[in-house]
Amino acid sequence: MTKIAPSILSADFAKLGEEIKDVERGGAHYIHVDVMDGHFVPNITIGPLIVEAIRPVTDLPLDVHLMIENPDLYVSTFAKAGADIITVHQEACTHLHRTIQLIKSEGCKAGVVLNPATPAEWIKPILPDVDMVLLMTVNPGFGGQSFIDSVVPKIEQVATWRKELGLSFEIEIDGGVKVGTAKQCVDAGADVLVAGSAVFNQDDRAKAIEAIIADTQS
Ligand code: DX5
Ligand code: ZN
Repeated sequence: MTKIAPSILSADFAKLGEEIKDVERGGAHYIHVDVMDGHFVPNITIGPLIVEAIRPVTDLPLDVHLMIENPDLYVSTFAKAGADIITVHQEACTHLHRTIQLIKSEGCKAGVVLNPATPAEWIKPILPDVDMVLLMTVNPGFGGQSFIDSVVPKIEQVATWRKELGLSFEIEIDGGVKVGTAKQCVDAGADVLVAGSAVFNQDDRAKAIEAIIADTQS
């Protein structure tokens, strides 16, 4: 079954705890936390203090997407703050294996992320070591951008390698996921869909989540 990971980037930060409870009640599977440093991406968002603050609010796994330079410096802090899954960009890691092992040594699930323009081949060597592959379908930095269709063959490629290599990592898609773009992701092999604006910009979050899942089954 497809999992939905609402991105709190599009939530109302003045009532973040309530917003997270609302999507948990609405059927979300993970809470997606977008961490941006103003260097790797042109925006600054959430740090470990917020992760620590929201940890007691939900039983759902916190899926922490690090869009930061030098992620090794902060992995331990985010793990201690309560992250369950930590994903790092291939483009931000000079020694990717080391970073993935570091995340695991902190007791978290480890994932690797690719920007839309980065070829799938660049993560093939790391696939046996990861719990998740996150494929960006927008250039990271902001919520509410348009889905980049040309990433879909990359989803298929990673799903094919997963099968050929007998691996079981999850494939997560992030950016512009909504009714109308969700189905092609799942058909291509995605297991987890991040949805920010498509969930939080709707008054009824349960309905919004249901609509995305229904789209994938249409
Ligand atoms: C983009 C973030 C996404 C973003 C998705 O840099 O990584 O998680 O919040 O937002 P939507 O679903 O609105 O494209
Ligand atoms: Zn994200």
